[in-house]
Amino acid sequence: MTQERVLTIIDRETTYTIGATDGTTLLQALRQIPDILLDAPCGGNGNCGKCKVRILQGEVSPPQPEETHPLAAEELSQGIRLACRTYPLGNQDLPLKIATIHGRGTSQVMTGFSGGTPLEVLRFHAQEIHLKSSSVEDQRSQLTRLTDEVAVHPAMKNPRTLRKLQRQIGRTSLNCLMDQGKAVALLNPGDNAFGCAIDIGTTTVVVYLVELLSGSIVDHRAALNAQKRFGADVISRIEAVSRQANGSELLQRSIVQQLDWMAAELCEAHGISEDSLVELCAVGNTTMLHLLLGVDPATIAVAPFTPVFTESLSCPVAQLGFKHISDTYIHLPGSIASYVGADITAGVFASGITRQTDPVLFLDIGTNGEIALWDGAQLHCCSSAAGPAFEGASILHGTGGITGAVSSVSWVRDDQGRIRKS
Ligand code: FES
Repeated sequence: MTQERVLTIIDRETTYTIGATDGTTLLQALRQIPDILLDAPCGGNGNCGKCKVRILQGEVSPPQPEETHPLAAEELSQGIRLACRTYPLGNQDLPLKIATIHGRGTSQVMTGFSGGTPLEVLRFHAQEIHLKSSSVEDQRSQLTRLTDEVAVHPAMKNPRTLRKLQRQIGRTSLNCLMDQGKAVALLNPGDNAFGCAIDIGTTTVVVYLVELLSGSIVDHRAALNAQKRFGADVISRIEAVSRQANGSELLQRSIVQQLDWMAAELCEAHGISEDSLVELCAVGNTTMLHLLLGVDPATIAVAPFTPVFTESLSCPVAQLGFKHISDTYIHLPGSIASYVGADITAGVFASGITRQTDPVLFLDIGTNGEIALWDGAQLHCCSSAAGPAFEGASILHGTGGITGAVSSVSWVRDDQGRIRKS
């Protein structure tokens, strides 16, 4: 029978207490600790050699034969082990003291735009909706009065709208945020409307705070995807889900906590109340969106590569486990196929390439690389893994975009006319 026990881990003077079973690897244990982002590009398969930890104190399983290839004999003699091949053992009165080796650099994530605001295609606007006064003869509810005057998006019929309606009861005109002829949110008098545009990349996550009426980006937060500790690429993440009984839940919790924190921090930094945060809109490749919803993406990895969903979906964020931002909706635009996700749909839409008459090529080179070709009449898409070439996965030497990595080189001419690099 599997024994549940408490594991105490000390990493660089910080003590963590977590739950573990006899079959829990050190990597699985460390994944429960949000502060420790240990690189595990192969997802715990024992072949990338990146999940190195030094065991300083405590009893662990002896080195396994497969550790001798990624690790040099000298490293093993210094107590360095692969966390995915090491099992904490023994009496945990003596805490396991370790020193993580990789995954400590501060990441640099590119988030800039050039060539104008990409969201200028948005068509939100505010509109005053005039309601008939209530009377003894006309006792329709305030919501019915509103829906009798204007088409209302189904997602707007929620408790938050009702609370706002209650605060404005008796008013004969209401200020609504409109999208394509439908009211999508009720605005408080004098309020602005905001949304978060979220790009969930396999490696990085960016959350943009957007002022919906102007489409302008107020601010953003960027970070490495917290799921990176479960594997660097899409296939490693899918394998990580299948390797643990609660794999889907673990990966979902890790991305939801990250998005929740990033969105809440943006709102706090700009004094935006949850009432004014109309919607989150998240795009990503099809696997990332499955993981966000806690849906096992296993079938995406094997022929005939059938995703569970590609449709556009909306749900209350609280249903996904958001805690700091809990009273709004998250919208996922539709994907195209297993390996062409909603990030491409959104990119094609926002860039407006399908409104061009000339052929246009749209490239998204990330861990998963996609190309969309608009030939003037039809859109053709394909994708391929690009991560190992660009993001430091599965390479022996080198690293991803962390502090210290060379990200640009320029050449300047000095006083004597000599060319130097800077
Ligand atoms: S070798 Fe352990 S995660 Fe790759």
